[in-house]
Amino acid sequence: MQIIKRKGVIKTEINQLGRLEDQNHKLNISNKINVKSDVFGKLMNFYALAIKKVEEEINNINQEYHEYHLIDHVKSRIKSPKSMLQKMEHKNYELTYQNLIERINDVAGIRIICPFKNNVYVIKSLLEQNSQIHVLNIKDYIAHPKKSGYTSLHMIVEVPVTIENNIVFVKAEIQIRTIAMDFWAELEHDIRYKPQNKVTKYQSKELIKCAKMLNKIEDRMVKIYYN
Ligand code: GTP
Ligand code: MG
Repeated sequence: MQIIKRKGVIKTEINQLGRLEDQNHKLNISNKINVKSDVFGKLMNFYALAIKKVEEEINNINQEYHEYHLIDHVKSRIKSPKSMLQKMEHKNYELTYQNLIERINDVAGIRIICPFKNNVYVIKSLLEQNSQIHVLNIKDYIAHPKKSGYTSLHMIVEVPVTIENNIVFVKAEIQIRTIAMDFWAELEHDIRYKPQNKVTKYQSKELIKCAKMLNKIEDRMVKIYYN
């Protein structure tokens, strides 16, 4: 089995992917993204496998530590082609495969929902220690909530997936948050992305207040739970 080095791995692999295509479909990484092409489909399969790999590792953690009830549930998704392209346009990136692979970190997204905040940090440490997960970046919006009121812990990681006898490292975004944080984030997301909806000043003020209240309620619930 050929082991490819971590850095720039997907790049190498995509070029290999290109070689697998017939001459007419040969992929040049600087090419414009064509979401209807076979290459795009194959690329998305990398991300699907990355999600599977992360889910496997989460399942292992869940089994090993099941008596601690660290995780309530896990959700995952591949970003839709439409929102991938929208995000790239929004960030003024040229719509190339290279930019997608190198600059969009959340094509593969996994969300881990925990009962309480302390569980979030336990999961974070367990993922950091996991030999199959290479952490690239962590953003702690629990310690430092966003202006919107949003709280969560984000990890950008790389995981090895095996494709046609090669090990490739693929990026994924893991969001870890509590049930209360998830309740808030899902609701806020719905409000923000409702068609033709502009969040009013009143709504955003209320949302910030609710985030703070939920945080307090969670802290009270933790005390009840651990007493
Ligand atoms: P991008 O992935 O380019 O946005 O990078 P970034 O560094 O801005 O990422 P960030 O950590 O801000 O957010 C990544 C993801 O977190 C988003 O795609 C959302 O899923 C989630 N998120 C961030 N901010 C908010 C927020 O205010 N409300 C909600 N509901 N979700 C948020
Ligand atoms: Mg963002």
